[in-house]
Amino acid sequence: MAASQRAVFWLGKDTLRVSAALFAENRRRLCKALKAADGVQPKSVVLLQGGEQKQRYCTDTDDVFRQESFFHWAFGVTEADCFGAIQVESGKSLLFVPKLPDSYATWMGEIHPREHYKDKYDVDEVHFTCDIADVLAKRNPAVLLTLRGVNTDSGSTCREASFEGISQFTVNNTIMHPVIVECRLLKTDMELEVLRYTNRISSDAHKEVMRRVRPGQKEYEMESLFQHYCYSRGGMRHCSYTCICGSGHNGSVLHYGHAGAPNDKTISEGDMCLFDMGGEYYCYSSDITCSFPANGKFTPDQKAIYEAVLKSSRAVMAAIKPGVKWTEMHRLADRVHLEELVKIGILKGSVDDMMKEHMGSVFMPHGLGHLLGIDVHDVGGYPEAMERIPEPGLKSLRMGRLVQERMVLTVEPGIYFINHLLDQALASPAQRCFINNDVLPRFRGFGGVRIEDDIAVTANGMELLTCVPRTVEEIEEFMEEARGDPKSVSPI
Ligand code: GLY
Ligand code: MN
Ligand code: MN
Repeated sequence: MAASQRAVFWLGKDTLRVSAALFAENRRRLCKALKAADGVQPKSVVLLQGGEQKQRYCTDTDDVFRQESFFHWAFGVTEADCFGAIQVESGKSLLFVPKLPDSYATWMGEIHPREHYKDKYDVDEVHFTCDIADVLAKRNPAVLLTLRGVNTDSGSTCREASFEGISQFTVNNTIMHPVIVECRLLKTDMELEVLRYTNRISSDAHKEVMRRVRPGQKEYEMESLFQHYCYSRGGMRHCSYTCICGSGHNGSVLHYGHAGAPNDKTISEGDMCLFDMGGEYYCYSSDITCSFPANGKFTPDQKAIYEAVLKSSRAVMAAIKPGVKWTEMHRLADRVHLEELVKIGILKGSVDDMMKEHMGSVFMPHGLGHLLGIDVHDVGGYPEAMERIPEPGLKSLRMGRLVQERMVLTVEPGIYFINHLLDQALASPAQRCFINNDVLPRFRGFGGVRIEDDIAVTANGMELLTCVPRTVEEIEEFMEEARGDPKSVSPI
């Protein structure tokens, strides 16, 4: 069997097979883009450093390893402590793996020969990391292109490749980052296949949670159920981010689930649940939020808020196509929310005037959605020289670009009743005139509704990757059916 046929990531059973050809294509795209970029000399060599195995603080307990995202995009290597090089002119790929001590064979398992990694990842050559300086010197590169640049979501600078002996080479650490980020921005067919899979498994896991949720359970039981489903059925050892399992008022805490609020409330009868969870397969993400009543039946207020958010979600989806401004999609969602909040009676007055006063951000302080890929907030939202719009709400939008075919994005409008923001608005003369304070108090403590789907932009519109019950009728029917099914009793 040819190496390219053996080089497949697969966790058996019904999990997805991902060919190493996905990464070979990414490397080819990177080389092509670099050849077209300004300042790339002949005989340039890309050098990427993979993630390192870390221990828990000062102990000898390993953290569960997850590959560094740029390195994964280019090589698909699951092991820690590797480097990868690509000769830009020829496209030739070199993987550097650690030379393991004999004790590894006792404690960690078989020490594979270099040939094993060549077959496993279908690269041209495999060497040991301790030989990297010699191996690269023999190629006599004009320049090593290393990766240094700021992640526009975190503000953190990615760690540049470095090894003992690098000082003998000419290094350029500015050219590659914008080029590789542009490559990651648009997904290939093979990447889209993986993202369809992460969405299918995570959608099914959300449905499993909706089947089994009952008032009286803890939020963390639902987190655990989601993770169990994703891992046992989908081979997803990691989630793409910390699970957010907010019930009742916690649904208004945008990043609930962190160590200070670890999904530990008991779910009550009458609560809305806002569960934002996504599984990750072979480092590709998903990011899905389902909002539904814990007891399976919407109250009139829950239905009204839910349908307002669903309306904005579907209005945005109907408008998405290549060329539209993502910032305009955010404004569209705000406008629909404000119109619906007027109908519900929480707001009053002219929606145009409310838009001028940024009333949308009182109820949706976050951005409409973001790029998705190997990172849940995937790279490329703001190319160099593009600034965020410094307005409430829009300043939190993680992507400022025009929508392009092959982008994968989340569409995640929400309406939340966040006491801090409501109090601020009531204290603002420009905003309080729009608030009907006879009605608003009824919604304090409601929590929130977010509807988050993942989409791939096509030539004329979009493909919906997420598949969960979405209308009020679909949700109520789905949850009622599950409650009549003896297999859906809780806990698992
Ligand atoms: N779950 C993180 C987000 O929705 O962006
Ligand atoms: Mn999310
Ligand atoms: Mn998201």
